[in-house]
Amino acid sequence: MIQVAVCGVGRTGSEVLRALLDSERFHLTAAFCSAGSEKAGRDAGELINRANTGIIIHEITQIDPGLSEVPVDVLIDFSNPTGTKTLLRACKKHRIPAVLCTTGHTEADMLWMTDFVRHNKLGVVYAPNVTLGVNVLLAALRLVARALPSFDYHITETHHSKKYDIPSGTAKKIAAALEEELPAGAEVPIDAVRAGGYVGMHTVLLASDYERLSLTHESFSRRAFVEGALTAAEFIVSRIGWYEMEDVLGMRIAAQHAASAVS
Ligand SMILES: NC(=O)c1ccc[n+]([C@@H]2O[C@H](COP(=O)([O-])OP(=O)(O)OC[C@H]3O[C@@H](n4cnc5c(N)ncnc54)[C@H](OP(=O)(O)O)[C@@H]3O)[C@@H](O)[C@H]2O)c1
Repeated sequence: MIQVAVCGVGRTGSEVLRALLDSERFHLTAAFCSAGSEKAGRDAGELINRANTGIIIHEITQIDPGLSEVPVDVLIDFSNPTGTKTLLRACKKHRIPAVLCTTGHTEADMLWMTDFVRHNKLGVVYAPNVTLGVNVLLAALRLVARALPSFDYHITETHHSKKYDIPSGTAKKIAAALEEELPAGAEVPIDAVRAGGYVGMHTVLLASDYERLSLTHESFSRRAFVEGALTAAEFIVSRIGWYEMEDVLGMRIAAQHAASAVS
């Protein structure tokens, strides 16, 4: 059994709790919420309308003592970027690898995080979109951009009205991947829509004067995020270093092969 701590027990974190409680491969041992949250002190099972588990949700401020009280092989984070430094410092102290799915980190945050992880020989999967489909889309788009460098590219991302970061981390990652492959100086614009209950949709439109092509990925359920996060957890549990979903899914190698196939 892989012992898992969860940071962030909101919409997606609650789905992670459900999956862990149902799993024969993973075992929930700890859960953390924001400081001052009404969820602090509640049982993780009760929070998701299940039987009590005996696992009490603690505030993020208690993550350090919290991680020393129970066995934890890996931490899964779906919380808020303001908590990431606290979380990584606790992971360092307790030598716990992490799957960071929280989005909205600034460039300065990213520099701090990558440096901290490498310097302290931690294991981290950084996954601003953790779904299988999006990561396959990224690899496919690298191939498309190499084959069609003169087309105009445009990204539209659509999410539920409560998503705070605009544009989404996934849209930024798609743009960055395309800009790496397109001729120097190319910039891929991103439109963001915040409406209703969309779980997450990303469309890349590319067009010349004579034709267009569009590729869309849509998550139907938060369970898509959970499946990716558990796959990443299994990957990172025995590793040190900074990884992304391309590494977890072997798509980084596939992208290079794709590149050489068209070059
Ligand atoms: N990588 C992906 O594929 C993916 C997929 C979905 C979501 N996300 C990202 O994951 C994050 C959570 O998404 P969500 O939709 O589940 O949002 P959400 O429903 O708002 O849940 C976030 C939870 O984290 C808690 N929280 C806030 N600050 C915290 C901190 N410093 N430490 C610990 N917990 C904290 C919040 O408050 P309480 O503790 O008071 O409840 C809340 O319940 C967002 O950044 C989102 O963009 C990523």
